[in-house]
Amino acid sequence: MTKAKAAVFASGTGSNFQALMDTEHLACEIVLLVCDQSDASVIEKAAKSKIPTFIFNAKAYPSKEAYEKQLVQKLQEVNVSWVFLAGYMRIVGPTLLQAFERKIVNIHPSLLPAFPGKDAIGQAFQSGVETTGVTVHFIDEGIDTGPIIAQESVAILSGDTEATLKQRIQQVEHALYPRVVNQLLQSSSNF
Ligand code: GRF
Repeated sequence: MTKAKAAVFASGTGSNFQALMDTEHLACEIVLLVCDQSDASVIEKAAKSKIPTFIFNAKAYPSKEAYEKQLVQKLQEVNVSWVFLAGYMRIVGPTLLQAFERKIVNIHPSLLPAFPGKDAIGQAFQSGVETTGVTVHFIDEGIDTGPIIAQESVAILSGDTEATLKQRIQQVEHALYPRVVNQLLQSSSNF
């Protein structure tokens, strides 16, 4: 059976992109990286893995609708059926959401609904909570508000700095995201 094709959207380092690429038995084939920052290090990671990259400059388009129309076209050209956001720093609009209904998934470094938005690790660290974690969820029109698929807790330890907490959260992310991707792909192929 041929694997479903997926795109990863990322704007930064790309450690989650790399974790998906390094997964031995990923249930989908990553055929495209979409990136909105021309100097992001995820681009180099994709090049090393020979994954085609579409880099776009949102400011060069008249609207979100205009660049998302182009993204939909690029995704359809290579038969992408799933989109995995991994540090994509833009709010997804109706154009993409309607074209890929319930097929756009995000990973967020907190136990949503706690600490949505930017710097979720810093927000949790500064708030004094004892536990934070990682959430994988479907995207909707809000900021980190879509239906939750999976969560895993990470304790904030007494000796933690923001950097050590981030390290442990990322370790959890790199194991959780591929696992959830596989569960989603397997359950959706049963229908
Ligand atoms: C991750 O912490 C992810 O949860 C969040 O953005 C970060 C991306 O990190 N959405 P990386 O670029 O995958 O290293």
